[in-house]
Order: sequence, then C-alpha cells, then structure tokens
Amino acid sequence: MKKILTGIKPTGDFTLGNYIGAIKQMVKMQDEYDSYIFVADLHALTIAQDPKSLHDRIKKFIAMYIACGIDPNKNTIYIQSENEYLPAMSYLLECNTAYGEASRMIQFKEKSKQNANFSVGLLTYPILMAADIIYLDADLVPVGIDQKQHVELARDIADRFNKKYGETFKLPEPLISEVGVKIKDLKDPTKKMSKSDDSPQGVISMFDDKDTIIKKIKGATTDSDNEIRFDEENKPGISNLLNITASLTDKSVDDIILECNGMGYGDFKMYVADIVANKISSIQEKYNEIVNSNQLEDILNKGKEKSRELAKAKFELMKERLGVGR
Ligand code: TYM
Repeated sequence: MKKILTGIKPTGDFTLGNYIGAIKQMVKMQDEYDSYIFVADLHALTIAQDPKSLHDRIKKFIAMYIACGIDPNKNTIYIQSENEYLPAMSYLLECNTAYGEASRMIQFKEKSKQNANFSVGLLTYPILMAADIIYLDADLVPVGIDQKQHVELARDIADRFNKKYGETFKLPEPLISEVGVKIKDLKDPTKKMSKSDDSPQGVISMFDDKDTIIKKIKGATTDSDNEIRFDEENKPGISNLLNITASLTDKSVDDIILECNGMGYGDFKMYVADIVANKISSIQEKYNEIVNSNQLEDILNKGKEKSRELAKAKFELMKERLGVGR
C-alpha cells in the first residue's frame, strides 16, 4: 500500500488555509493509502515561541485533525518531537545538502529578511522536513503550494543520497489539490492566509466562532465592479471567496458562480459566510467531544511507537550507508 504523509507547524492558529491545503486532501485519501499525520512542533521552534502556548497548541492541533475527519483507525498520528530519530536523520541529510541549495528556498529568503537575527534552524528547516518525509518512504505529500518547493527539495535530497550511497529512500511527490492550493488573506487577497500573520481580520481560524467568521467574511476586501467572476489577477478577493466555497462544498467554481448568479457582493459574502461558518462549527462540535475525551493519549502513544520504529530502521540503514557507528 502506498504511503501518504503530512504535517502542520503549531505556530499561531490552525487556519482555514491549513484545513483546505493539507487536511482535507488527507481525509480524502485516507481510505486508499497508508496514512501518517503529525504536528511539526520542532519546526515551530525555528521562530521564537512562548513555550506554554506552544505546548497547549500541540494537543489542540491533534484533536483538530481528528475533528476535521482524520480517522485514528486509518492514520498513524504523532508529534514530531516524540520521534528523536527525525532530527538525528536531519543532521545526516544536512551534511549532504549544500548551503546554497538550502539558502535558495523561497520561505527561507522571505523569513530571513523579516528578522536579521534569524536562527540556523530557519535555514535547516526544509532539511528536517525532508527527514519527516523520507524516513517513511512516503509516496505522496499533500501540501499547499507554499510547501511544494520543500517537498521537491526532499525529493532531490533523497535522490542524491540514493545515487551517492546506494538505494535508501523512495522519492516523494507533492500532492497539490486543484482548488484551494493557496487560500488568500481576506484583507489582503494578494498574499497567503497565514497563521503567523499580523492581520487577524484576514485569517479564519478553525477555532473562530460563527459570529467572528461571518464578520471576517463580510469585511473581506473585494473590488468595485459587483460582478461575481473568477479572475485571480483582477479580482483576487472574489476569486479567493469562490475558491474557499468551492473547496468546502466540493463543487466547481463554475457551479458556485451559477448558483450566485444575480447576487450583489453583500449577498454573495453572506452566502460564503454561511457555508464557512456552518462547516467550521460542525468541526468544532466534534473537536469539543474529542478534546474532552481520553482517547488522545492512546492514539499518540501508538503513533509515537510506530513512527519511531520505522524511523529507527531507516536511521540505522543511513548510518550503515554513511559508514558511521560501530
Ligand atoms: P505550515 O504549518 O505552514 O502549513 C501546513 C499546511 O497547510 C498548508 N497551507 C495552506 N494551504 C492553502 N492555503 C493557505 N493559505 C495555506 N496556509 C498553509 C501548507 O502548504 C501546508 O501543507 N513545514 C511545514 C510543516 C511540515 C510538513 C512536513 C508538511 C513539516 N514537515 C512534512 C508536510 C510534510 C509547514 O510549516 O507547514
């Protein structure tokens, strides 16, 4: 059975972008693939975090995965930092990755510009991500378009290692959904909706209540020609709302446009807001059941054990190939 894997970094909120870009695709594929999903808490450390809030978010994210439809019976669910083989493997991969290659990553370039005192971890972040993916021999990695370059780097790193030291890793492929590859900020629809954003009105959290969601969507930036049409360049705000709606309803953008024929922007925003608020509040109902039950410990213990076992075997093989150890 082919393997699929994804992870989310628990910095800031769990956003609608995370749900649409990564989780929804995982849910769709979980019946056909051996599925793995984790919380990338080590990745969160590349940017300064408050330890208490980081810690609180980890289990919230796990419970949210399950509430979004990730079935614990079909997925291995774990916390990245509980698998100590991953950072160890990452070091072995770092020694086989050129500085130039790592520093060319778009996210590194952008984030290192934002803070002159950026950590070395920000540079090595995609290499840890490569370890997350290739320890498992994952075939497919569902991600939003912003992470595509990192999955491609993982593939390059694996390929180079195989060629240099002998067949060790499977080469992963990113899986980018057709709709919703990049959900945009509601206030500034030219940029990605991002959890570490300083524009809370532009970001929908999966923990937002109904009224907040409706208010945010009503306040979304649109244009002035009052025509509902998909045109990402000239009408990024309306196109973003169409994308969100298409993704959450599993309808095509064209069908949504037909349904909304004749509506003004005010009515269209209410239509979108209802769909988003209803979807998120039904996910939150499940979330409340899960977070208050005691099933999480058991799920995480099993996930930790399984992912460590697989990573240990791959780590030993890497060491053997590289000639280190006894
Ligand atoms: P992160 O936490 O930034 O994002 C998690 C996932 O959500 C997707 N995403 C979006 N998709 C569509 N529209 C958006 N506005 C949007 N915002 C975020 C991201 O593309 C991603 O798929 N480094 C990763 C976490 C990670 C990982 C991995 C992922 C660590 N190891 C191994 C896959 C495999 C990250 O920071 O994603």
